Amino acid sequence: MKVAVAAETDAGEPRVAAVPETVKKMLGLGAQVAVEPGAGVRSGILDADFTSAGAVVTADAVSGADVVLRVRRPQASELSRLKKGAIVIAIMDPYGHEAALRAMADAGVTAFAMELLPRITRAQVMDVLSSQANLAGYRAVIDAAAEFGRALPMMMTAAGTVPATRVFVMGAGVAGLQAIATARRLGAIVTATDVRPAAKEQVESLGAKFIAVEDEEFKAAETAGGYAKEMSKEYRAKQAALVAEHIKKQDIVITTALIPGRPAPRLVSKDMVASMRPGSVVVDLAVERGGNVEGVSADAVSDFNGVKVVGYRNVPGRLAATASSLYAKNLYAFLEVLIDKKTKALAVNWDDEIVKSTALTRDGAIVHPSFRPKSAA
Ligand code: NAI
Repeated sequence: MKVAVAAETDAGEPRVAAVPETVKKMLGLGAQVAVEPGAGVRSGILDADFTSAGAVVTADAVSGADVVLRVRRPQASELSRLKKGAIVIAIMDPYGHEAALRAMADAGVTAFAMELLPRITRAQVMDVLSSQANLAGYRAVIDAAAEFGRALPMMMTAAGTVPATRVFVMGAGVAGLQAIATARRLGAIVTATDVRPAAKEQVESLGAKFIAVEDEEFKAAETAGGYAKEMSKEYRAKQAALVAEHIKKQDIVITTALIPGRPAPRLVSKDMVASMRPGSVVVDLAVERGGNVEGVSADAVSDFNGVKVVGYRNVPGRLAATASSLYAKNLYAFLEVLIDKKTKALAVNWDDEIVKSTALTRDGAIVHPSFRPKSAA
């Protein structure tokens, strides 16, 4: 079995899909591992590190490979280099990109989308959304602190007392919970909100205060998969009024709210930004999906009358070495599912829940029920 580790082609992607530790583990599974030159450089991994781990570094790593590990979906130009039936494992970003899925199907590639993993216990070790969102939540606080002209903790000094910074985290999923924990560690006074009732207890267990309209709709809002669903217009209006009052008093707001497969919900309006004191900072982690904050610009720090709105894309990539190391381990765990350990060969069980939920294309067709052309469904 030949495994290839691709060098990412997107300039905005510094992560890599394997690290020396996972290369060694793949060799242990009986694989030969080939890595494209420079694949790890932006994550602090040199070609020589991959070679020392037992990989071959070569420009044609992907041609002839049985499995290609990537961070992002391969571009059309790369697909022509893959052999028919090659398995490609990546964060495929499938929603709204049907033409790209079609191109992978037409190339005869078997594509697995890591972000479609079911959130079951067995899949936790492979959960790229969690491993990367956790780092994004941490980094959002670091980025906010860097833009903020004041200290986060309360400090009592001979020259006087500095008050603690107030941080409000909107969306208390994986990223939000890590943002809360990080802001708390830095000594901030933290509040948070979410539309999922289960988030309340998690927020409170991290020492933050929960802010939400807790009506009947809120209590019924958690869906089976643990994700948020879209709330009614009435709920959103009530919640927006509560949040508007709260935001006026905050120094830093961090937004992390997402609903799978949909544009990010708009949580912070221009008026809310304008209500904040000059020097305040808003960090929007949802900018790639349209943003939670009105007026946010991708990859920019925008100034609205002294309030900074930060909208970096690929925030996990801002911690590329850590992000790659966790992502690579997620991918290795997924690869193990596709392999028969006795024969050391690929043996995909198409009935396995993990395989079924992630398989996007196979044998020339888009096979995932959420993306299959309607006539074939
Ligand atoms: P996500 O990235 O889809 O969304 C982030 C957060 O934004 C979520 O908590 C969501 O409820 C919230 N949100 C959406 N719309 C909002 C709105 N209008 N206002 C405020 N908040 C809003 O979610 P993520 O981080 O992937 O996690 C979702 C849940 O899944 C969490 O409870 C997490 O603990 C759970 N989970 C379970 C796993 C398992 O294997 N059992 C693995 C990973 C996460």
